Amino acid sequence: MKKTVLIISVFLVGILILSSCKHKPHIGLLVDNLQQERWKKDMSIFEEKVKELGGTCSVLIADSDPDKQLLQAEEMIANGVEVLVVIPANQLKAGDIVIYAHQNHVPVISYDRLIKNCNLDYYISTDNIAIGELQAGYLTKIKPAGKYGIIGGSRVDNNAYLLNIGQLNILQPLIEKGDIEVVFNEYTNSWSLHEGYEITNNYLNSEMNQGLDAIIAGNDALAAGAISALKEHNLAGSVLVAGQDADIQAIRNIVGGNQTMTVYKPIEALAYTAADAAIKISKGIAPSNMDITINNGKRLVPAILLKSQVVHRQNIDLTVVSEGFISEQDIEKNGNKE
Ligand code: GAL
Repeated sequence: MKKTVLIISVFLVGILILSSCKHKPHIGLLVDNLQQERWKKDMSIFEEKVKELGGTCSVLIADSDPDKQLLQAEEMIANGVEVLVVIPANQLKAGDIVIYAHQNHVPVISYDRLIKNCNLDYYISTDNIAIGELQAGYLTKIKPAGKYGIIGGSRVDNNAYLLNIGQLNILQPLIEKGDIEVVFNEYTNSWSLHEGYEITNNYLNSEMNQGLDAIIAGNDALAAGAISALKEHNLAGSVLVAGQDADIQAIRNIVGGNQTMTVYKPIEALAYTAADAAIKISKGIAPSNMDITINNGKRLVPAILLKSQVVHRQNIDLTVVSEGFISEQDIEKNGNKE
């Protein structure tokens, strides 16, 4: 009997020692800011998935400050993070994060936004040129002729330029035909509501104003700002507006008729894919499905680009609601769902 107890005890102690030695990957997520509601979702889904896959996750938010983001990267690496996942605050300055991480043998995944001109390891995003095409394609089907304004996204975010390529892929033939005139096409300092408002308002108040039929905005915050300016000029609802991110307010504006469409990015798939890749990399396993490469100005970076969907008045239930991204109740709250 004593012998059996001894064997069981030795066995249990062995298991305890083994499990305490088991490697628990430590993943770091650097977030630009939490100004847009989508980033909270990216962050919490990512953290949840890393934990589910047996890792631990540290998260720091840079409040749109690239220097702060570099310090946060250094702090995370000092704390033993094995893989860094970065939503860059600045597409160029974040290259310093990659250099520092590599000096410390930490690989970097660029999340949603590309980090340019450095030896970035991986890039996980959506096809942003395709998103620009979805926006312009949708509006030009409704108004194939007229005056279009483009409010691009942030100058320090590579996605803004990709969106513009996509938008002009669709608009350019119609411009050359003489059907569409682009009356403004401006980038912004950030992805903020107030810049969407100012660009639209400045045009509507200027001598250049020869009418406006449609606005393509880089995201839903810029679109919301544009809608406020349109409201002040009694144009909300008659000027088409495209946005991106499927923010709750944008969905309400679509229901209410002041916004025409938004683009719903697969946030859940994006965060899952990045978490899965980070855990694999930390174990020395090559991440799966990195089936394309993207030139970041320095190297061809192995990448995954996921697809996005158009959300318009008629498919809200079938897209964002049925996938659990937004609830019916949230849309109805302060909204005017009919
Ligand atoms: C971009 C992204 C957009 C939007 C924006 C605002 O990088 O492509 O979907 O979220 O940031 O933060």
